[in-house]
Amino acid sequence: SGPLSVKDLAEKMGREVSEIIKKLMLLGVMATINQEVDVDTATVVAEDFGVEVVEVEPDEDPTEIQEIEDAPETLKPRPPVVTIMGHVDHGKTSLLDVIRQTNVTASEAGGITQHIGAYQVRYNDNKITFLDTPGHEAFTAMRLRGAKSTDIAVLVVAADDGVMPQTIEAINHAKSAGVPIIVAINKMDKPGANPDHVKQQLSEHGIMPEEWGGDTIMVPVSAKQRMGIDDLLENILLVAEVMELKANPNRRAQGIVIEAQLDKGRGAVCTVLVQKGSLRVGDTILAGTCYGKVRAMTNERGEKVKVARPSMPVEILGFSEVPQAGEIIDSVEDNEARTIAEKRIAKQRVQELQSSHKITLDDIFNQI
Ligand code: GTP
Ligand code: MG
Repeated sequence: SGPLSVKDLAEKMGREVSEIIKKLMLLGVMATINQEVDVDTATVVAEDFGVEVVEVEPDEDPTEIQEIEDAPETLKPRPPVVTIMGHVDHGKTSLLDVIRQTNVTASEAGGITQHIGAYQVRYNDNKITFLDTPGHEAFTAMRLRGAKSTDIAVLVVAADDGVMPQTIEAINHAKSAGVPIIVAINKMDKPGANPDHVKQQLSEHGIMPEEWGGDTIMVPVSAKQRMGIDDLLENILLVAEVMELKANPNRRAQGIVIEAQLDKGRGAVCTVLVQKGSLRVGDTILAGTCYGKVRAMTNERGEKVKVARPSMPVEILGFSEVPQAGEIIDSVEDNEARTIAEKRIAKQRVQELQSSHKITLDDIFNQI
């Protein structure tokens, strides 16, 4: 589609330009050979000549990367991506620590998660990727962009504290994203622990435990005493197995920016979850309006990685600017990155102008 001249129209219909001009004159339109005609006029002319007019798809959005359709035979099993969610202080990071056998909580400022971490663990020859959320902002940002980062949500509820506002928020996020929930009833070691009360409260929010005839697995755990962790991991793998998670590893990479910040020495440092394809050192990458070339990749243990396959989180260096968390990252052709990034910037400017224009229009009139 796009603008069509009288000459184009004649060519498309296999007619002489003069015939088209004549027809246009009969319609009251005085046109020259290079004059552009609008869609409605072109349609009337074409139909008068007995040419059928079919509506074509609008032009591809030059700011979008063209989606690749992965044929079923290209899909290979991939590890589940699990997001740990729950109310503040219910033990998300502690639980993740125990799973990783490390201790991040102690090193965090004030024991509060500053940003999302992403890690992959190996359990009984199976890999599981975990994402830790600081709140739900990043999760919301991803969903707003239509990206889905998570296969399974582990909802952490402290057995002594029960369902709290952010527990309900997490339930709603998971539900609207269509992500299955596994509940980890944490802090079972505490004297005030009351798992039945937690189950009761969750039932009131539409999360019914299996043992009560519902379909949600609820596992009692204690991050502090390392209790119930195997049970939790086994249940995650059970749910994942039913989901038959797959992706094509042999295509250009696509993923999601989990977190990103500026490091004085290293520049933009960005944790990426690869979702499709394989990301390699040297790949040209694009995320939102930021682009660059993958200079180095490391895993959560700081080891160098050459290739990151689906469901693998990696820290990458090479973006010229810091992309936003929740942004989709694509590996693209060398010549595409900058062009598309610039088009995206231009589009953003237009949108900003349009929204600011509405406000300033009144101001302008007030000044007259
Ligand atoms: P935010 O990231 O701030 O939302 O918190 P979080 O959900 O990550 O909680 P975190 O793991 O930081 O734990 C909060 C507090 O609860 C810490 O003091 C932990 O030591 C404590 N805690 C976590 N798990 C357990 C547990 O199983 N038993 C007991 N007794 N304390 C726990
Ligand atoms: Mg935390």
